[in-house]
Amino acid sequence: MSTIDSSKWQNAVTMQEALPDVWEALQTKVDRMIGQLGGKSPHVAKADGIYDDMRHDWWTSGFWPGILWILHDQTGKEHYKEAAWGWDERFERKMIEDNNFHHDVGFQFSPTAVIKYMLTGDKDARRRGLQAANFLAGRFNLAGRFLRAWNQEKIGWAIVDSSMNLSILFWAAAEIGDPRFEQIARAHADTVITKFIREDGSVNHILSFDPRTGELIEPLGGQGAGPNSSWSRGQAWALHGMANTYRYTGDVKYLHAAQRVAHYFLACLPDDYVAHWDFRAADDLTGLPRDTSAASCAASGLLELAAALPGVEGSLYRRAADRILLSLTKHYATWDQPGHEAILVAGTGNLPAGQNIDVSLIYGDYYYVEALAKLQGWKHRIF
Ligand code: GLY
Repeated sequence: MSTIDSSKWQNAVTMQEALPDVWEALQTKVDRMIGQLGGKSPHVAKADGIYDDMRHDWWTSGFWPGILWILHDQTGKEHYKEAAWGWDERFERKMIEDNNFHHDVGFQFSPTAVIKYMLTGDKDARRRGLQAANFLAGRFNLAGRFLRAWNQEKIGWAIVDSSMNLSILFWAAAEIGDPRFEQIARAHADTVITKFIREDGSVNHILSFDPRTGELIEPLGGQGAGPNSSWSRGQAWALHGMANTYRYTGDVKYLHAAQRVAHYFLACLPDDYVAHWDFRAADDLTGLPRDTSAASCAASGLLELAAALPGVEGSLYRRAADRILLSLTKHYATWDQPGHEAILVAGTGNLPAGQNIDVSLIYGDYYYVEALAKLQGWKHRIF
């Protein structure tokens, strides 16, 4: 088994400087993960470093195949494509069984069916991506102008996480030339700006609306410390999601929204640039759990902002992303633990529910890879 020598980047001052060695190490790591994970659909790895195996309709099922497609795209190596190939078909099969798919079909089908179609032209993948977009569009609440988040009794709930799921709607609109998908994505994004993002750039996680009138009832704490807190992954979803929405639409109101969230996010970071799980969990956050998934997702969103704003302004965001990624690389990765199935440690899933605190999260791994690929000049986009 090839080994990884993490001492190579311990003296690097920037991520850009460390990148050639880290990118090579990442391939060794992912090659190893292919063997370790086998057919598993990973979500969480606890202290033992072994990823669990979730149902295919669970919201995180697209992230592992997404890592594989990005590596295939950037390296041209066929074994990544082979390992990624079958996932969208599995999801389609689950779609016609009893299932609990919801707004997160974007997180599931963008890194599988949509990128597969983009890279290979596979017609089955295209069909699956369009089906998922139709399913998501069908969750739009016209009165409240939001995408319904979850199922069961939560008919009027919208969540900031959906900002990331808009990409599949923009893709479908362009793919079949039907503007309804874009209209729905823009309407939801407008609700994110007017209702989710607060004046100071902090963000609500869940908003409860009256599903008949569309009137806002109240904010809910969700995975953050409380209704008025600032859950760091929610910040990251909004930052990355609004930056993507700007890329798809060219409308500067989404760019400015992403910048506002970014500035707040960056102002809240501790000395090592890796976010605590909620920026308002306490007056003093020292010693509270981090969330490396918020860090990697925000870093990838910051690189989107850097690409949108070339020149001096963009370099501010690029430098911020670089610092976050270098810290993750040096202090929060498993390079020296060959038996560990994840890339990053110190993620926080749902602290208020007591679930998945200080663990590895597959979406943390995914956004880390996505961000490094962007630094490498990756041209395609999944989100
Ligand atoms: N989308 C659910 C989460 O961020 O935990």
